Amino acid sequence: MKILLTGGTGYIGAHTAVEALNKGYEVVLVDNLSNSKKSVVNAIEQITNKKVKFYQKDLCNKKDTFKIIAKEKPDQVIHFAGLKAVGESVKIPLKYYENNLVSTLNVLEAMQSVGCNNFIFSSSATVYGEPKKLPITEEFLVSATNPYGRTKLFIEEILRDYAKANPNLNICILRYFNPVGAHPSALIGEDPNGIPNNLMPYITKVAMKKLPELKIFGNDYPTKDGTGVRDYIHVVDLARAHICAIDKNLENTGVTVYNVGTGVGYSVLEMVQTFEKVNNILVPYSFVARRAGDIPECYASNAKAEKELRFKTQLSLEDMVKSAYEYEKKHN
Ligand code: NAD
Ligand code: UD1
Repeated sequence: MKILLTGGTGYIGAHTAVEALNKGYEVVLVDNLSNSKKSVVNAIEQITNKKVKFYQKDLCNKKDTFKIIAKEKPDQVIHFAGLKAVGESVKIPLKYYENNLVSTLNVLEAMQSVGCNNFIFSSSATVYGEPKKLPITEEFLVSATNPYGRTKLFIEEILRDYAKANPNLNICILRYFNPVGAHPSALIGEDPNGIPNNLMPYITKVAMKKLPELKIFGNDYPTKDGTGVRDYIHVVDLARAHICAIDKNLENTGVTVYNVGTGVGYSVLEMVQTFEKVNNILVPYSFVARRAGDIPECYASNAKAEKELRFKTQLSLEDMVKSAYEYEKKHN
Protein backbone atom coordinates (compact mmCIF):
# COMPACT_ATOMS: atom_id res chain seq x y z
CA MET A 1 0.00 0.00 0.00
CA LYS A 2 1.27 3.47 -0.88
CA ILE A 3 0.72 6.26 1.65
CA LEU A 4 1.29 9.91 0.78
CA LEU A 5 2.03 12.18 3.75
CA THR A 6 1.58 15.90 3.26
CA GLY A 7 3.65 17.86 5.78
CA GLY A 8 5.68 14.67 5.92
CA THR A 9 8.94 16.23 7.13
CA GLY A 10 7.14 17.96 10.02
CA TYR A 11 7.15 16.77 13.63
CA ILE A 12 4.20 14.36 13.55
CA GLY A 13 4.54 13.53 9.84
CA ALA A 14 8.13 12.31 10.22
CA HIS A 15 7.27 10.02 13.13
CA THR A 16 4.29 8.66 11.20
CA ALA A 17 6.47 8.06 8.14
CA VAL A 18 8.74 5.88 10.31
CA GLU A 19 5.81 3.83 11.62
CA ALA A 20 4.35 3.43 8.12
CA LEU A 21 7.70 2.31 6.67
CA ASN A 22 8.19 -0.13 9.55
CA LYS A 23 4.77 -1.54 8.75
CA GLY A 24 5.96 -2.20 5.19
CA TYR A 25 4.04 0.58 3.43
CA GLU A 26 5.51 2.57 0.59
CA VAL A 27 5.85 6.19 1.73
CA VAL A 28 5.82 9.45 -0.24
CA LEU A 29 6.39 12.77 1.52
CA VAL A 30 5.34 16.23 0.29
CA ASP A 31 6.40 19.34 2.19
CA ASN A 32 7.32 22.91 1.30
CA LEU A 33 9.79 22.99 4.24
CA SER A 34 8.17 26.15 5.63
CA ASN A 35 8.46 24.62 9.11
CA SER A 36 10.80 21.66 8.71
CA LYS A 37 14.11 20.63 7.20
CA LYS A 38 15.10 18.42 4.29
CA SER A 39 17.55 16.52 6.54
CA VAL A 40 14.49 14.87 8.14
CA VAL A 41 14.16 12.73 4.99
CA ASN A 42 17.63 11.25 5.59
CA ALA A 43 16.85 10.77 9.27
CA ILE A 44 13.69 8.78 8.41
CA GLU A 45 15.69 6.64 5.99
CA GLN A 46 18.42 6.10 8.57
CA ILE A 47 15.96 4.99 11.25
CA THR A 48 14.07 2.60 8.99
CA ASN A 49 16.79 1.58 6.55
CA LYS A 50 14.23 2.15 3.81
CA LYS A 51 13.88 4.66 0.99
CA VAL A 52 11.26 7.40 0.95
CA LYS A 53 10.32 9.63 -1.94
CA PHE A 54 10.25 13.34 -1.14
CA TYR A 55 8.73 16.26 -3.07
CA GLN A 56 9.59 19.77 -1.91
CA LYS A 57 6.41 21.46 -3.11
CA ASP A 58 3.77 23.86 -1.83
CA LEU A 59 0.32 22.24 -1.73
CA CYS A 60 -1.28 25.64 -2.28
CA ASN A 61 0.03 25.28 -5.83
CA LYS A 62 -2.78 23.35 -7.50
CA LYS A 63 -0.78 22.34 -10.57
CA ASP A 64 2.07 20.85 -8.54
CA THR A 65 -0.33 19.09 -6.19
CA PHE A 66 -2.23 17.49 -9.08
CA LYS A 67 1.03 16.48 -10.75
CA ILE A 68 2.40 14.73 -7.67
CA ILE A 69 -0.81 12.90 -6.86
CA ALA A 70 -1.38 11.88 -10.49
CA LYS A 71 2.16 10.51 -10.65
CA GLU A 72 2.13 8.72 -7.30
CA LYS A 73 -1.50 7.48 -7.25
CA PRO A 74 -1.45 6.86 -3.48
CA ASP A 75 -3.87 4.45 -1.81
CA GLN A 76 -4.27 6.78 1.19
CA VAL A 77 -3.31 10.36 2.00
CA ILE A 78 -2.51 11.59 5.51
CA HIS A 79 -2.84 15.36 5.52
CA PHE A 80 -0.52 16.88 8.13
CA ALA A 81 0.48 19.98 6.15
CA GLY A 82 -0.64 23.20 7.77
CA LEU A 83 0.43 26.19 9.79
CA LYS A 84 -0.13 25.61 13.51
CA ALA A 85 0.95 28.53 15.70
CA VAL A 86 -2.09 29.90 17.52
CA GLY A 87 -0.60 33.34 18.32
CA GLU A 88 0.66 33.82 14.77
CA SER A 89 -2.75 32.86 13.39
CA VAL A 90 -4.29 35.77 15.29
CA LYS A 91 -1.77 38.17 13.71
CA ILE A 92 -1.90 36.86 10.13
CA PRO A 93 -5.30 35.15 9.84
CA LEU A 94 -5.58 35.35 6.05
CA LYS A 95 -2.30 33.48 5.64
CA TYR A 96 -3.64 30.73 7.92
CA TYR A 97 -6.96 30.48 6.11
CA GLU A 98 -5.24 30.47 2.74
CA ASN A 99 -2.52 27.98 3.58
CA ASN A 100 -4.59 25.50 5.57
CA LEU A 101 -7.79 25.62 3.51
CA VAL A 102 -6.39 25.95 -0.01
CA SER A 103 -3.84 23.16 0.50
CA THR A 104 -6.59 20.87 1.79
CA LEU A 105 -8.93 21.65 -1.13
CA ASN A 106 -6.12 21.07 -3.63
CA VAL A 107 -5.19 17.72 -2.07
CA LEU A 108 -8.84 16.55 -2.02
CA GLU A 109 -9.44 17.57 -5.63
CA ALA A 110 -6.22 15.97 -6.79
CA MET A 111 -7.15 12.75 -4.96
CA GLN A 112 -10.55 12.81 -6.63
CA SER A 113 -8.93 13.11 -10.05
CA VAL A 114 -7.13 9.78 -9.53
CA GLY A 115 -9.92 8.03 -7.62
CA CYS A 116 -8.10 7.96 -4.27
CA ASN A 117 -10.83 7.76 -1.61
CA ASN A 118 -8.93 7.38 1.65
CA PHE A 119 -8.01 10.46 3.67
CA ILE A 120 -6.76 11.02 7.21
CA PHE A 121 -6.85 14.52 8.64
CA SER A 122 -4.82 16.11 11.47
CA SER A 123 -7.37 17.93 13.59
CA SER A 124 -6.83 19.15 17.13
CA ALA A 125 -8.32 19.13 20.62
CA THR A 126 -8.46 22.89 20.13
CA VAL A 127 -11.84 22.33 18.38
CA TYR A 128 -13.41 21.60 21.80
CA GLY A 129 -12.77 25.17 23.04
CA GLU A 130 -13.31 25.26 26.81
CA PRO A 131 -14.93 21.90 27.64
CA LYS A 132 -17.87 21.97 30.05
CA LYS A 133 -16.94 18.59 31.55
CA LEU A 134 -14.15 16.04 31.43
CA PRO A 135 -13.02 13.74 29.92
CA ILE A 136 -13.76 15.09 26.45
CA THR A 137 -15.68 12.76 24.15
CA GLU A 138 -16.00 13.14 20.39
CA GLU A 139 -19.68 14.17 20.69
CA PHE A 140 -18.87 17.37 22.61
CA LEU A 141 -19.89 20.62 20.98
CA VAL A 142 -17.08 22.18 18.96
CA SER A 143 -16.03 25.82 18.77
CA ALA A 144 -12.92 27.84 18.13
CA THR A 145 -11.38 30.90 19.71
CA ASN A 146 -8.69 31.71 17.13
CA PRO A 147 -8.10 31.49 13.35
CA TYR A 148 -5.89 28.38 13.66
CA GLY A 149 -8.63 26.50 15.48
CA ARG A 150 -11.20 27.74 12.99
CA THR A 151 -9.19 26.33 10.06
CA LYS A 152 -9.47 22.92 11.75
CA LEU A 153 -13.22 23.33 12.32
CA PHE A 154 -13.83 24.55 8.76
CA ILE A 155 -11.84 21.67 7.27
CA GLU A 156 -13.76 19.15 9.38
CA GLU A 157 -17.02 20.63 8.01
CA ILE A 158 -15.72 20.61 4.43
CA LEU A 159 -14.80 16.94 4.84
CA ARG A 160 -18.31 16.07 6.07
CA ASP A 161 -19.95 17.91 3.15
CA TYR A 162 -17.60 16.29 0.69
CA ALA A 163 -18.23 12.81 2.08
CA LYS A 164 -22.02 13.36 1.98
CA ALA A 165 -21.77 13.99 -1.74
CA ASN A 166 -19.36 11.08 -2.27
CA PRO A 167 -20.37 7.97 -0.35
CA ASN A 168 -17.26 6.09 -1.49
CA LEU A 169 -14.98 8.32 0.56
CA ASN A 170 -13.35 7.12 3.77
CA ILE A 171 -12.23 9.96 5.97
CA CYS A 172 -10.69 9.61 9.39
CA ILE A 173 -10.45 12.80 11.43
CA LEU A 174 -7.94 12.54 14.29
CA ARG A 175 -8.20 15.15 17.03
CA TYR A 176 -4.76 15.20 18.61
CA PHE A 177 -4.31 16.24 22.21
CA ASN A 178 -0.77 17.43 23.19
CA PRO A 179 1.95 15.55 21.32
CA VAL A 180 5.39 15.63 22.98
CA GLY A 181 8.64 13.67 22.96
CA ALA A 182 10.73 12.28 20.15
CA HIS A 183 11.75 9.07 18.43
CA PRO A 184 14.02 6.91 20.68
CA SER A 185 16.81 7.22 18.09
CA ALA A 186 16.82 10.99 18.78
CA LEU A 187 17.17 11.45 15.01
CA ILE A 188 13.76 13.08 14.63
CA GLY A 189 11.85 15.25 17.09
CA GLU A 190 10.24 18.63 17.62
CA ASP A 191 12.32 21.50 16.34
CA PRO A 192 10.38 24.78 16.61
CA ASN A 193 11.76 27.97 15.11
CA GLY A 194 12.70 30.69 17.62
CA ILE A 195 11.42 30.75 21.18
CA PRO A 196 8.97 27.89 21.68
CA ASN A 197 5.31 28.57 22.52
CA ASN A 198 4.54 25.10 23.78
CA LEU A 199 5.47 23.70 27.15
CA MET A 200 7.72 20.72 26.41
CA PRO A 201 10.06 22.40 23.90
CA TYR A 202 10.30 25.35 26.31
CA ILE A 203 11.27 23.04 29.20
CA THR A 204 13.97 21.33 27.12
CA LYS A 205 15.47 24.72 26.17
CA VAL A 206 15.54 25.76 29.85
CA ALA A 207 17.15 22.43 30.79
CA MET A 208 19.84 23.11 28.16
CA LYS A 209 20.34 26.61 29.62
CA LYS A 210 19.33 28.17 26.29
CA LEU A 211 16.56 30.00 28.15
CA PRO A 212 16.90 31.19 31.75
CA GLU A 213 13.67 29.82 33.25
CA LEU A 214 10.24 28.49 32.50
CA LYS A 215 7.39 30.91 33.07
CA ILE A 216 4.42 28.92 34.31
CA PHE A 217 1.27 30.60 33.05
CA GLY A 218 -0.98 30.71 36.11
CA ASN A 219 -1.01 28.85 39.45
CA ASP A 220 -4.58 29.79 40.36
CA TYR A 221 -6.52 27.45 38.08
CA PRO A 222 -9.13 25.17 39.66
CA THR A 223 -6.88 22.14 39.06
CA LYS A 224 -4.98 19.67 41.28
CA ASP A 225 -2.10 22.11 41.96
CA GLY A 226 -3.34 25.35 40.38
CA THR A 227 -1.42 24.94 37.10
CA GLY A 228 -2.92 24.00 33.73
CA VAL A 229 -3.69 20.35 33.03
CA ARG A 230 -3.29 18.73 29.59
CA ASP A 231 -3.33 15.30 27.98
CA TYR A 232 0.25 14.82 26.76
CA ILE A 233 0.75 11.96 24.31
CA HIS A 234 4.08 10.56 23.10
CA VAL A 235 4.52 11.44 19.43
CA VAL A 236 5.45 7.82 18.63
CA ASP A 237 2.13 6.66 20.08
CA LEU A 238 0.36 9.38 18.11
CA ALA A 239 2.14 8.23 14.94
CA ARG A 240 0.87 4.69 15.59
CA ALA A 241 -2.69 6.01 15.75
CA HIS A 242 -2.35 6.93 12.07
CA ILE A 243 -1.50 3.33 11.20
CA CYS A 244 -4.73 2.31 12.95
CA ALA A 245 -6.57 4.99 10.95
CA ILE A 246 -5.22 3.55 7.69
CA ASP A 247 -6.75 0.19 8.67
CA LYS A 248 -10.00 1.90 9.69
CA ASN A 249 -10.36 3.52 6.28
CA LEU A 250 -10.10 0.07 4.69
CA GLU A 251 -13.35 -0.87 6.48
CA ASN A 252 -15.26 1.69 4.35
CA THR A 253 -16.99 3.43 7.21
CA GLY A 254 -17.31 6.95 5.76
CA VAL A 255 -16.35 9.82 8.04
CA THR A 256 -15.05 8.86 11.48
CA VAL A 257 -13.72 11.13 14.24
CA TYR A 258 -11.37 10.10 17.06
CA ASN A 259 -9.68 11.75 19.98
CA VAL A 260 -6.03 10.79 20.19
CA GLY A 261 -4.77 11.24 23.72
CA THR A 262 -3.86 9.07 26.69
CA GLY A 263 -6.96 9.87 28.72
CA VAL A 264 -4.82 11.20 31.57
CA GLY A 265 -4.19 14.84 32.44
CA TYR A 266 -0.92 16.12 33.91
CA SER A 267 -0.32 19.58 35.35
CA VAL A 268 2.51 21.89 34.33
CA LEU A 269 4.17 21.28 37.71
CA GLU A 270 3.90 17.51 37.28
CA MET A 271 5.54 17.85 33.85
CA VAL A 272 8.40 19.90 35.28
CA GLN A 273 8.93 17.59 38.25
CA THR A 274 8.88 14.44 36.09
CA PHE A 275 11.30 16.03 33.63
CA GLU A 276 13.69 16.95 36.45
CA LYS A 277 13.54 13.51 38.07
CA VAL A 278 13.88 11.41 34.90
CA ASN A 279 16.63 13.53 33.36
CA ASN A 280 18.32 14.39 36.63
CA ILE A 281 18.47 18.09 35.82
CA LEU A 282 16.94 21.23 37.30
CA VAL A 283 14.36 23.28 35.42
CA PRO A 284 14.13 26.69 37.10
CA TYR A 285 10.66 28.22 36.90
CA SER A 286 8.56 31.08 38.18
CA PHE A 287 4.82 31.68 38.18
CA VAL A 288 3.41 34.43 35.98
CA ALA A 289 -0.10 35.49 34.94
CA ARG A 290 -2.34 33.15 32.98
CA ARG A 291 -1.82 33.13 29.19
CA ALA A 292 -4.76 34.66 27.33
CA GLY A 293 -6.92 32.01 25.69
CA ASP A 294 -5.67 29.10 27.85
CA ILE A 295 -8.15 26.74 29.44
CA PRO A 296 -7.68 25.22 32.92
CA GLU A 297 -7.94 21.56 32.08
CA CYS A 298 -8.24 19.32 29.06
CA TYR A 299 -7.99 15.56 28.63
CA ALA A 300 -9.48 13.04 26.27
CA SER A 301 -11.79 10.16 26.60
CA ASN A 302 -9.93 7.64 24.46
CA ALA A 303 -12.64 4.98 24.71
CA LYS A 304 -13.79 5.41 21.10
CA ALA A 305 -10.27 5.17 19.66
CA GLU A 306 -9.56 2.11 21.80
CA LYS A 307 -12.74 0.36 20.68
CA GLU A 308 -13.04 1.34 17.03
CA LEU A 309 -9.45 2.11 16.01
CA ARG A 310 -8.03 -0.57 18.31
CA PHE A 311 -5.51 2.07 19.38
CA LYS A 312 -3.87 1.96 22.80
CA THR A 313 -0.99 4.16 23.93
CA GLN A 314 2.12 2.28 25.06
CA LEU A 315 4.57 4.95 26.19
CA SER A 316 4.69 6.66 29.58
CA LEU A 317 5.20 10.23 30.75
CA GLU A 318 8.76 9.20 31.65
CA ASP A 319 9.33 8.10 28.02
CA MET A 320 7.98 11.46 26.83
CA VAL A 321 10.24 13.67 28.95
CA LYS A 322 13.31 11.46 28.45
CA SER A 323 13.04 11.33 24.66
CA ALA A 324 12.31 15.07 24.43
CA TYR A 325 15.50 15.85 26.34
CA GLU A 326 17.61 13.30 24.41
CA TYR A 327 16.53 14.91 21.13
CA GLU A 328 17.26 18.42 22.37
CA LYS A 329 20.73 17.39 23.60
CA LYS A 330 21.59 15.85 20.24
CA HIS A 331 20.32 18.69 18.08
CA ASN A 332 20.76 21.99 19.85
P1 NAD B 1 4.84 20.83 11.74
O1 NAD B 1 4.83 22.30 11.50
O2 NAD B 1 6.05 20.23 12.34
O3 NAD B 1 4.50 20.05 10.39
C1 NAD B 1 3.66 20.58 9.39
C2 NAD B 1 4.42 20.52 8.09
O4 NAD B 1 3.59 21.04 7.05
C3 NAD B 1 5.69 21.36 8.12
O5 NAD B 1 6.80 20.55 7.79
C4 NAD B 1 5.46 22.44 7.05
O6 NAD B 1 6.65 22.77 6.38
C5 NAD B 1 4.43 21.78 6.16
N1 NAD B 1 3.55 22.68 5.41
C6 NAD B 1 2.81 23.72 5.89
N2 NAD B 1 2.12 24.30 4.90
C7 NAD B 1 2.41 23.61 3.76
C8 NAD B 1 2.03 23.73 2.39
N3 NAD B 1 1.20 24.71 1.99
N4 NAD B 1 2.55 22.88 1.49
C9 NAD B 1 3.41 21.89 1.87
N5 NAD B 1 3.81 21.73 3.14
C10 NAD B 1 3.32 22.57 4.07
O7 NAD B 1 3.55 20.50 12.64
P2 NAD B 1 3.15 19.16 13.37
O8 NAD B 1 3.27 19.40 14.82
O9 NAD B 1 3.83 18.00 12.76
O10 NAD B 1 1.60 19.13 13.03
C11 NAD B 1 1.08 18.39 11.94
C12 NAD B 1 -0.41 18.66 11.84
O11 NAD B 1 -1.04 18.31 13.07
C13 NAD B 1 -0.76 20.13 11.59
O12 NAD B 1 -1.85 20.17 10.71
C14 NAD B 1 -1.17 20.64 12.97
O13 NAD B 1 -2.07 21.70 12.89
C15 NAD B 1 -1.81 19.40 13.57
N6 NAD B 1 -1.76 19.39 15.03
C16 NAD B 1 -0.57 19.53 15.68
C17 NAD B 1 -0.52 19.55 17.07
C18 NAD B 1 0.77 19.74 17.80
O14 NAD B 1 0.73 20.05 18.99
N7 NAD B 1 1.92 19.55 17.19
C19 NAD B 1 -1.72 19.41 17.80
C20 NAD B 1 -2.92 19.24 17.11
C21 NAD B 1 -2.93 19.23 15.72
C1 UD1 C 1 -1.48 24.74 22.48
C2 UD1 C 1 -2.34 25.53 21.52
C3 UD1 C 1 -3.45 24.64 21.00
C4 UD1 C 1 -2.88 23.37 20.38
C5 UD1 C 1 -2.04 22.66 21.45
C6 UD1 C 1 -1.39 21.41 20.94
C7 UD1 C 1 -2.15 27.84 22.36
C8 UD1 C 1 -2.87 28.96 23.04
N1 UD1 C 1 -2.87 26.69 22.21
O1 UD1 C 1 -2.29 24.38 23.54
O2 UD1 C 1 -4.21 25.31 20.04
O3 UD1 C 1 -3.92 22.51 19.95
O4 UD1 C 1 -1.00 23.55 21.87
O5 UD1 C 1 -0.38 21.76 20.05
O6 UD1 C 1 -1.02 27.98 21.93
N2 UD1 C 1 2.63 26.60 29.60
C9 UD1 C 1 3.36 27.32 30.53
N3 UD1 C 1 4.48 27.97 30.11
C10 UD1 C 1 4.93 27.93 28.81
C11 UD1 C 1 4.16 27.18 27.87
C12 UD1 C 1 3.01 26.55 28.31
O7 UD1 C 1 3.02 27.38 31.71
O8 UD1 C 1 5.95 28.56 28.48
C13 UD1 C 1 1.42 25.88 30.05
C14 UD1 C 1 0.13 26.33 29.40
O9 UD1 C 1 -0.47 27.37 30.13
C15 UD1 C 1 -0.69 25.02 29.42
C16 UD1 C 1 0.36 23.93 29.30
O10 UD1 C 1 1.61 24.53 29.69
O11 UD1 C 1 -1.34 24.88 30.66
C17 UD1 C 1 0.51 23.39 27.89
O12 UD1 C 1 0.72 24.47 27.00
P1 UD1 C 1 1.03 24.25 25.44
O13 UD1 C 1 2.12 23.26 25.28
O14 UD1 C 1 1.21 25.58 24.82
O15 UD1 C 1 -0.28 23.54 24.89
P2 UD1 C 1 -1.82 24.02 24.97
O16 UD1 C 1 -1.98 25.23 25.78
O17 UD1 C 1 -2.62 22.83 25.36
